Amino acid sequence: MARFYLAPLEGITTQIFRNAYHQHFCPMDKYFTPFFVPHSKKGFSTKEKREILPENNAGLFLVPQIMSNHAEDCLKTIDKLLAYGYKEINLNMGCPSKTVVSKGRGSGFLAFPEELDRFLDGVFEGIRDTDVRLSVKTRLGKDGPEEFFRILEIYNQYPLEELIIHPRVQKDFYKNEPNLELFAYGQENSKSPVCYNGDIFTAEKYEKIQKLFPKVSAFMLGRGILMDPALLERIKKEAGDGGAQAGKIRRFHDKLCEEYRALGMGDKNVLFKMKEIWCYLGKSFPGKEKALKKIRKAERFDRYEAAVEELL
Ligand SMILES: Cc1cc2nc3c(=O)[nH]c(=O)nc-3n(C[C@H](O)[C@H](O)[C@H](O)COP(=O)(O)O)c2cc1C
Repeated sequence: MARFYLAPLEGITTQIFRNAYHQHFCPMDKYFTPFFVPHSKKGFSTKEKREILPENNAGLFLVPQIMSNHAEDCLKTIDKLLAYGYKEINLNMGCPSKTVVSKGRGSGFLAFPEELDRFLDGVFEGIRDTDVRLSVKTRLGKDGPEEFFRILEIYNQYPLEELIIHPRVQKDFYKNEPNLELFAYGQENSKSPVCYNGDIFTAEKYEKIQKLFPKVSAFMLGRGILMDPALLERIKKEAGDGGAQAGKIRRFHDKLCEEYRALGMGDKNVLFKMKEIWCYLGKSFPGKEKALKKIRKAERFDRYEAAVEELL
């Protein structure tokens, strides 16, 4: 069986989410943190530390992700992560958000292949005497999929631990279909092991992609897990019946609430976090639009809980 990774989802797959998922559902082979942007402070901020402290991620294979276009800054953050014992680190070349892209980061960096090459050269030179392994999570390009030919040539010059390909371009955001033709090209021509990522929302979709790319040994799941946290069980054909699944969702949900509340972030912020999850999780509850609307509209925690009770 292939290996499965939980995708990084900024603001959602926090250490609280990762742990709650790991406890309640089929464990992933790897978990990725949402991106860290290098900054000039000496250590990590309190929030960053919470994400990466080994005791907050016990039992999980965690790969921290960095988003940077500046080799020296990136190396400083790699150094800080090394101090926490991380040996595998992922570089984000995929984020499509406008604020990130306008700074030439994430998938915005893909529009500057020469700079990208210099960046990777600097970073790999900088880690030469360490045992850090670097992987890359990439889109196909910024404006058009044909950019990927050059981008892959660049990646192929470096000993990447793996190349995670989300076969869309920045301009797609999350629209259009993943470009499977270009993914096939990547899989055939990458010198590093390739991981597939994009739009695996059902076990049937996984099987379809897996049959198309039988040599791919790793798959990264993102929104599919948010919509259906039991997706990996379904893929592995280990899912229990509907009743058992509903109980697990309830316990998973309660754990998330409890842990976010314990952070002391205030009910309003906890509700914001939970509602963001419901934007996806709600898809598992067709015909329950009324209760979902109540969840969306809830301004107070007691109302929120009553709406969740009604739904679950
Ligand atoms: C809300 C949101 C936040 C995301 N944050 C990150 C991130 O921090 N780092 C990253 O590499 N990708 C991020 N992504 C992209 C996902 O990791 C993944 O590549 C994308 O959702 C496609 O996979 P999926 O179709 O399985 O969800 C984010 C996506 C979404 C929707």
